Amino acid sequence: MEVKGLILSGGAGTRLRPITHTRAKQLVPVAGKPVLFYGIEAMAAAGIREIGIITGDTSAEIEAAVGDGAAFGVKATYIPQSAPLGLAHAVLTAEAFLGDSPFCMYLGDNLLRDGVAGFVDRFREGSADAMILLQHVPNPSEYGVAELADDGSVHRLVEKPKEPRSDLALVGVYLFTPAVFEAAKALEPSWRGELEITDAIQGMVDRGLRVEPHVVTGWWKDTGQLADMLEANRLVLDAIDPDVQGTVVDSKIEGRVVIQAGATVERCHIRGPVVICAGATVRDAYIGPYSAISEDAHVERAEMEHAILLERSSIIGIDTRIEDSLIGADCRITRSDAIRSANRLLVGDGSRIEIL
Ligand code: DAU
Repeated sequence: MEVKGLILSGGAGTRLRPITHTRAKQLVPVAGKPVLFYGIEAMAAAGIREIGIITGDTSAEIEAAVGDGAAFGVKATYIPQSAPLGLAHAVLTAEAFLGDSPFCMYLGDNLLRDGVAGFVDRFREGSADAMILLQHVPNPSEYGVAELADDGSVHRLVEKPKEPRSDLALVGVYLFTPAVFEAAKALEPSWRGELEITDAIQGMVDRGLRVEPHVVTGWWKDTGQLADMLEANRLVLDAIDPDVQGTVVDSKIEGRVVIQAGATVERCHIRGPVVICAGATVRDAYIGPYSAISEDAHVERAEMEHAILLERSSIIGIDTRIEDSLIGADCRITRSDAIRSANRLLVGDGSRIEIL
């Protein structure tokens, strides 16, 4: 049975500002690779060949990054959504593309350790009308929440409840038959003004359709906020294979470290897991665990740990270690040579800075 893919890559990304003032949140790199690419790769690994990508204001950027999909072994079709009116609205926007094919819907800012192949296979072999993935979380009110009946079937689904009835969050991967369209068409906008996919699935349950729940045991991350982004970076880096292709001079490299071809590391101490991307230059620096340095970035006479530095940014001559940080593209962090002790900042809207 041919299963199509639908990746949601629209939306506003307000919780990751200021990074998302200038880029799509799905293109923020995790361990040096845009988070969206993990989703496309997971679909390709599940044997899905035709993928529709829902886009919003950042469609040009998403299209430039993914292209026709050939690099991933898939055929990508772009589906512009008029406005971010909800996940169920995105499904309805894609109805013509999906036709009468069953499909796997994947939220473009989600990451799952074990991908989706196991679930897609189970859906192909079974007779469910929809399949949802769940995970126990400590903060269920930030997600869609599922309440299961004693026999394990889905009893009730509520989007971001103030008083959650269980700790089972809806993971951002869903499998649907076309029966979802009828349920989505019957929806009214929720309190946050969106057509919620959670409500559409509840509608399927109410119609007596079979909605099969599966609890995901491998890690899962929604990278919508800084702390989640850093954690996703950590989880992915924990599993990388060491691979040093770039130029390394007079340096101590420990643990799992990737230095891509075209990167230069001189007189450094690099303690993995760390990724240093092509074109990056790192000199006289300490790069500690869970750091990711993007293309053409520059670190000199500085220390960083558990931090993400995006493309073309530089950290030069800083005495205090930079930790737990996400630094956008084209930023410059340098030492001031002013005589007075003062910090000088030119900071974008919505930035957060903590000064020692
Ligand atoms: O991550 C899992 C959670 O994702 C689920 O537990 C929730 O039930 C589900 O509603 C969703 O919640 P979020 O509030 O995190 O969804 P968000 O608005 O971040 O959108 C998820 C992705 O879909 C994101 O990549 C942007 C994209 N999107 C979103 C909307 C609202 C669209 O493409 N179009 C849209 O209209």
